[in-house]
Amino acid sequence: MKTVLITGAAGGIGTRLRSLLKGVYPRLILSDREPAANLGADEEFIQADLSDMAQVTALLDGVDGVIHLGGRSIEDEWEVIHAANIVGCHNLFEAARLNGTKRVVFASSNHAIGFYPRHRRITVDDKVRPDSRYGVSKAFGEALGSFYAEKFGLGVLSIRIGNIDDYPVDERRLSIWVSPRDLVQLIRIGLEHPDLRYQIVWGASDNARAWWDNEPAYRLGYRPEDRAEDHRDRALAAEAERTPNAVADYFQGGDFCAIDFDGPHPDQVA
Ligand SMILES: NC(=O)c1ccc[n+]([C@@H]2O[C@H](COP(=O)([O-])OP(=O)(O)OC[C@H]3O[C@@H](n4cnc5c(N)ncnc54)[C@H](O)[C@@H]3O)[C@@H](O)[C@H]2O)c1
Repeated sequence: MKTVLITGAAGGIGTRLRSLLKGVYPRLILSDREPAANLGADEEFIQADLSDMAQVTALLDGVDGVIHLGGRSIEDEWEVIHAANIVGCHNLFEAARLNGTKRVVFASSNHAIGFYPRHRRITVDDKVRPDSRYGVSKAFGEALGSFYAEKFGLGVLSIRIGNIDDYPVDERRLSIWVSPRDLVQLIRIGLEHPDLRYQIVWGASDNARAWWDNEPAYRLGYRPEDRAEDHRDRALAAEAERTPNAVADYFQGGDFCAIDFDGPHPDQVA
């Protein structure tokens, strides 16, 4: 990987990656629809809207690998999700194909499977159960990644990110937390592992309360350095301050499941 592009580089994860990946690849291009704050003189930034194919095609020129973070990162109206995460994601993969890009690491989300109840332990082979329009768009991005890998030979890693933060902020996050350095390790597997074609992995640290079997990541050499349980007391203290919600607290997707929820009583869901 000589030239690596980060989309969504002005956002929360992108801002962390800017420093964590500094010097790892010879050329790191940052891109976002919005200007990035506090750009250093040694940082390269290109402003581009993912929903505009001409801009995305120009952006991917000469790029070997992409860390695709750009898009709407929470639930929203369909028009917003559609422009950023459906059209934008398709533009990204298509421009990667046209430019001969070798690798795409796609920032998927636990919300692609959010309607699994918390008592179910699942693998990446279990079917998607999106908990939001946002989650549907992430399932779409995973399908696009698989299509571009199998049809056109792109190497693609979809990382179903749980929640990235300095530490898990409540009880749910004890199951799904990923530390910044563990996420970087997964991203680097996606960009550099010689045998990758298409794979989904869980973007999670070494969490004793995990609902997810991350064997595919371990098979690719992932060795998380951080454990949610080391922060248990702080997370459970914060949990005690939360207002309980029967729907959010039953499903893996948490609050996203409760938005507009009009389904059967959670206890009746398998
Ligand atoms: N933060 C998490 O814990 C988490 C968990 C699961 C998945 N993810 C995914 O990881 C990625 C990054 O998350 P984040 O927390 O940094 O989100 P964020 O909202 O902070 O950053 C997303 C960035 O994408 C940019 N963007 C939105 N629409 C765009 C467009 N049309 N063209 C170009 N740029 C556009 C935004 O300006 C923003 O800077 C997202 O795809 C998100 O869905 C994050």
